[in-house]
Amino acid sequence: MSDLYQRHCTRLFDFSDIEIKKIINLSADLKKLKSEKKEIPYLKNKKIVLIFEKESTRTRCAFEVAAFDQFANVTYLGPGSTHLGYKESLRDTVEILSSLYDGIQYRGGKHENIMILSKYSKVPIWNGLTDQFHPTQLLSDILTMQELLKKKCLSRRKIVYIGDATNNIANTLLEASVLTNLNMTVIAPKKYWPEKKLLRSCQLKGKEKNIKIECTDSISEGIKNADFIYTDVWISMGEPKETWEDKIKSLLPYQVNKKLLELSNNKNVEILHCLPAMHDKNTTMGKILLKKLGLQNGLEITKEVFHHYRKTIFKQAENRIHAIKALMISTLLKENAYKN
Ligand code: CP
Ligand code: NVA
Repeated sequence: MSDLYQRHCTRLFDFSDIEIKKIINLSADLKKLKSEKKEIPYLKNKKIVLIFEKESTRTRCAFEVAAFDQFANVTYLGPGSTHLGYKESLRDTVEILSSLYDGIQYRGGKHENIMILSKYSKVPIWNGLTDQFHPTQLLSDILTMQELLKKKCLSRRKIVYIGDATNNIANTLLEASVLTNLNMTVIAPKKYWPEKKLLRSCQLKGKEKNIKIECTDSISEGIKNADFIYTDVWISMGEPKETWEDKIKSLLPYQVNKKLLELSNNKNVEILHCLPAMHDKNTTMGKILLKKLGLQNGLEITKEVFHHYRKTIFKQAENRIHAIKALMISTLLKENAYKN
């Protein structure tokens, strides 16, 4: 039996498909226990530090609520509030923090940073988002898809990722598809396809498991018979402003809207979005971008489609708590401490 004790989670490929299944099953068990008010505080007195070099709503709150539910103690270090990387190296910082805390969550820019942290940390490091990967989001999305399918199997379903497929969500979804045996089609203009090395390695691993991972710029071809359609913002955190307008213009035809849903030819198709979503003018960024580009109805997803599927999308957000809790428990404790 593989044990997840003291393991890092920098990306989903840090784990095998069996280990991912274990985390997802534990997430579902923990969700049930919480809903029945029978939570068991496995993490009582554990100390967790959350380092955020970028903004967050869901990830920070999910880590905090998961820790509170489990009677663990949390320190939040927000952007610019420590010496990290400016006056003190990543290595020195993580060596200190890992002698004080039992686990460390890191959200930051470059993925290389989390690799340095995980190299020198004496305790588990959890990736709360880097420019390349967002594993705790996809753990929650796997749980959500399984719930949506009820008792039916996730394996061999088709997921479409449409939009900016160079980003952290698309990369992590590629890994999630391989690990859960999902067929995946990326629909995007060629210049926004995933980086070749990762794509190729996922395609090869997928082939061994008889699943297909492909990219196309043809919406009508790629979308056919999708069970799930996943999209994310077209402008990720930290992208330089000068690139926004051209990028949005290229991605406009790849919007999730009513027409796209019709083309899927599946009236039960489900829409996923990791959030935040740019679906209306009720944000500063939304107002500026929609006005500048003369658009009326959302960027990556239209208002109507977003609201029609908001129950599913918000379920993904709520499931962050259960998936993160499962990840913390399974990496901070030996399996016999939480399995009976
Ligand atoms: N989906 C997600 O990670 O949301 P936050 O940026 O709010 O944490
Ligand atoms: N791709 C987005 C994900 C936000 C959760 C970003 O990096 O900003």
